[in-house]
Amino acid sequence: MKTAGIFFIVLFLAGLTFNLGDLVAGEKFEPVFPLGVDKDVFSIPSDNPMTKEKVELGRLLYFDPRLSADGTVSCATCHDPAKGFTDQIPVSKGIKGRLGARNAPTVLNSTFNYFQFWDGRALSLEDQAKGPIENPIEMGNTHEDAVENISKIAAYKPYFKAAYGDWEVTIDRIANAIATFERTVLSGNSAWDRHVQNNDQTALNESAKRGLELFEGKARCTQCHVGFNLTDGLFHNIGVGMSKGNPDLGRYEITKKEEEKGAFKTPILRDLLKTAPYMHDGSVGTLEEVMDFYNKGGESNPWLDQKMQALNLTDQEKGDLVAFMESLEGDWKPEPAPKLPEWYTIESDKSVEEIVNAPS
Ligand code: HEC
Ligand code: HEC
Repeated sequence: MKTAGIFFIVLFLAGLTFNLGDLVAGEKFEPVFPLGVDKDVFSIPSDNPMTKEKVELGRLLYFDPRLSADGTVSCATCHDPAKGFTDQIPVSKGIKGRLGARNAPTVLNSTFNYFQFWDGRALSLEDQAKGPIENPIEMGNTHEDAVENISKIAAYKPYFKAAYGDWEVTIDRIANAIATFERTVLSGNSAWDRHVQNNDQTALNESAKRGLELFEGKARCTQCHVGFNLTDGLFHNIGVGMSKGNPDLGRYEITKKEEEKGAFKTPILRDLLKTAPYMHDGSVGTLEEVMDFYNKGGESNPWLDQKMQALNLTDQEKGDLVAFMESLEGDWKPEPAPKLPEWYTIESDKSVEEIVNAPS
């Protein structure tokens, strides 16, 4: 009895140290918050603390196509930093050229989303990151094979050790590292931020200033696009795609609530110049067309959000709203893809620096 008790205590403590190892490895990291991004609402799950080492590992994995079934598709294929962390095509193309049904949203500031995906089916970035790896039309892999692929790349091991305390590769560790990297992908310090935060009267041109006033007033955009990311984070049916024979019902597919048929998450409105085409199906090509869509009150359908109505905007007013939306470009610089760990065997006692700098 007594030995059994001690045995279990030892087991419990062993489990505890193992978990603590996961939690304490590495050096605490805080991202640089650009002007306008609300640092106070930035949060990190308690079981995935942010460390410098985990950001580094996550950056590599984000760009690594070896997470996919045939080694051709990485997160960056569809969320390319050079393209505003999107793919700039209406619907994404995954493994073997397979087309999806939805437009790739930007990863910029996605850490602030209450819900991930257009239909909100994931709540955290950690949860989200596991989806595309095993999505048959995205990376087409299984979690087991993705873990095996990465485990076989010996040059990754020191990165896992630095981030987690040991070399084990698991799908949770992969997802946690990618999510941690994504939390550093932030956009702010746009002309609008300088106008609002610093009261810099030279930041917005006259047209954009009128556009801002319309955005908050006559054009009713702030009914849904509010806060520093210009989104309420909630789901609305504005009618996009609803005239199709078999429309994507969005949020309804998750909740099965009748009133959520055709509702999609209100997207962040930053960096729009880099993230066209727009809407969940990529059906709207330009900001001018976005304004025509809203001016007529969206697309009528039985579930149209009550906040939608015809706006009677003049051409100049529509132009002013476009000028305002053009003022939302962040001042971040797209980082180049990192050099990925290569397929070679290494001595277990080498440091990350020795491996990275080793001739291949
Ligand atoms: C084949 C293209 C493709 C690949 C590869 C891909 N994504 Fe996506 N991503 C999309 C599309 C399309 C959506 C929207 C899907 C939906 O809402 O149903 C999306 C949604 C997201 C979102 C949600 C953003 C939001 O505002 O809701 C995040 C975050 C994200 N992807 C990150 C990643 C990460 C991390 C990886 C790699 C593990 C990845 N994606 C791989 C196309 C892709
Ligand atoms: C009733 C809520 C609501 C109102 C009001 C609203 N929007 Fe939206 N907006 C959304 C939703 C939801 C989407 C995504 C719809 C979809 O894809 O099905 C969206 C999408 C967009 C997009 C596309 C962004 C992208 O990345 O794809 C732009 C741009 C936009 N809205 C601007 C505006 C402007 C400008 C106004 C005011 C004229 C406005 N919105 C009013 C909810 C709203």
